[in-house]
Amino acid sequence: MRKVRKAVFPVAGLGTRFLPATKAIPKEMLTVVDRPVIQYVVDEAREAGIEHFIFVTGRNKAVIEDHFDIQFELNHTLAERGKDDQLDRLQRLQPQPGQTSFTRQQVPLGLGHAVWCARELVGDEPFALLLPDMITLPDQGCMKDMVALYNETGGSIIAVEECDPSETHKYGIVGRGEDASTGFRITGMVEKPKPGTAPSNLYINGRYILQPEIFAILESQERGAGNEIQLTDAMLKLERQQSFYGYHYRGRTFDCGSPEGFVEANVAFALSRSDMNESMACSIRTLLAEVEPARRKVAAG
Ligand code: G1P
Repeated sequence: MRKVRKAVFPVAGLGTRFLPATKAIPKEMLTVVDRPVIQYVVDEAREAGIEHFIFVTGRNKAVIEDHFDIQFELNHTLAERGKDDQLDRLQRLQPQPGQTSFTRQQVPLGLGHAVWCARELVGDEPFALLLPDMITLPDQGCMKDMVALYNETGGSIIAVEECDPSETHKYGIVGRGEDASTGFRITGMVEKPKPGTAPSNLYINGRYILQPEIFAILESQERGAGNEIQLTDAMLKLERQQSFYGYHYRGRTFDCGSPEGFVEANVAFALSRSDMNESMACSIRTLLAEVEPARRKVAAG
């Protein structure tokens, strides 16, 4: 079985939901506590054993490339000032020379199109795909578990989580078949189903392992939901030719693509850190106590 060595990060999105914050800064560079969102996702891939990181970028995203480069002046200054902890941390997160590649999605035609733009860089091997809007807590873990499942089953794998049935229209949804190792067989999938038509409440959380045959399917550039080239539609076709498995992730994924999800992620990640848990919990309690009277007044009309 071919090993999963490469990961694709589609980071071309405009981030219009975050304007004006994202006028000059890519949404993937907004920080959750003290790491840019994209760093969480790359770290998750590295932890899963990924050796090559492929970014599908767009205009105004050059700073992502800078972020994953070495900043010699910064390293030098940190060393001179004896800030070894910070230097160590930067060095641990630093991709090695030749481990990153960047290509551009020149026109915003959807996720399927973004993935297709990486076809030459991925080549003829299975690859991981991580959507940078989605970050997982406990951080890391999800892709590592998926690679472990892949090593048992082969094929393609999609991670899913449960959502409230009223939310299924916002996501790709999969149907659940019989168990297979630590995962299950996928019996179908649909992108953003109309309310009441979803095959389950298991939503695709933005983590995939895909076989390279997906590229030939995406080549046809067929449009789907929202008039975009949808990855889910291409996966549905691949599922008719090859095995497809679901992995039910038991952690929690935060959708940093929306301001509410992003703020929630900041609160949750800060609370999960031993160095700030206590002070954050205290601040949140104080803030809630302060806003409660106003909330009650609004609720009472
Ligand atoms: C994309 C995928 C969808 C998945 C979602 C997770 O949708 O197409 O299947 O559930 O990411 O965030 P988007 O959020 O780009 O509309």
